[in-house]
Amino acid sequence: MNFPLLLFVSLFCSLTWTQDYDSNPETGTIETQSCFPDMCNLLKEFGAMREKLGAMETRLRDSESQILELKGKENNTVVFSVANGGNGAVGPFDAHTTLIYRTVMTNIGNAYSPVTGIFAAPTAGIYYFTFYYHAGGDHPVNLSLFKNNEVVVGTSDHRSLNDGADNGGNAVFVQLQKGDQVFVRLHANTHVWGDDYSTTFSGFLVNQV
Ligand SMILES: *[C@@H]1O[C@H](CO)[C@@H](O)[C@H](O)[C@H]1NC(C)=O
Ligand SMILES: *[C@@H]1O[C@H](CO)[C@@H](O)[C@H](O)[C@H]1NC(C)=O
Repeated sequence: MNFPLLLFVSLFCSLTWTQDYDSNPETGTIETQSCFPDMCNLLKEFGAMREKLGAMETRLRDSESQILELKGKENNTVVFSVANGGNGAVGPFDAHTTLIYRTVMTNIGNAYSPVTGIFAAPTAGIYYFTFYYHAGGDHPVNLSLFKNNEVVVGTSDHRSLNDGADNGGNAVFVQLQKGDQVFVRLHANTHVWGDDYSTTFSGFLVNQV
């Protein structure tokens, strides 16, 4: 029983007919015998109920903060789909080149930069990436999906004179830490076709970890 309740009990009991002048209203001390037994039991029960109510309030507050936390996670949508843009071959170049996909179709969360071609994970989690290409058959194609400095997956095609064009791609689930960078590199002396819909790079956050 906490102090205000004790005070309430003492006040209530002193109002009953069997007033006990020994009880001290200043300190709130009380003798249980001084009030009607029924009334005192009622007050005890009331005290127990208040305690239960207090515990329930605490649990409710915990649940509320958990819901808010989940809502925050829910809100963390990261999705992008971009295409090379332009209208012609990209490459071949003498050196490895990060492909910059300039045509942005979707970029929720702005984690992909159409200026650098780099996707930077805004949050730790499992991400899914795809990259498809279209290319003329007169040069080889070799694209790699990088996570920071390491190649995760690639797609390539040899030079051939008997097919006019090639299409290929790859996809992968990658676990990223916040700030990890993912991008597609066009290897030296290879090429792809650039337009608004053929050579694309997409990704999304599957789940926060
Ligand atoms: C999601 O984020 C937006 C903008 O940051 C905010 O206005 C909105 O209340 C959030 N929604 C939830 C369910 O938290
Ligand atoms: C593509 O480039 C990677 C990395 O440089 C290399 O290991 C691989 O052999 C290349 N593939 C082809 C088909 O040239």
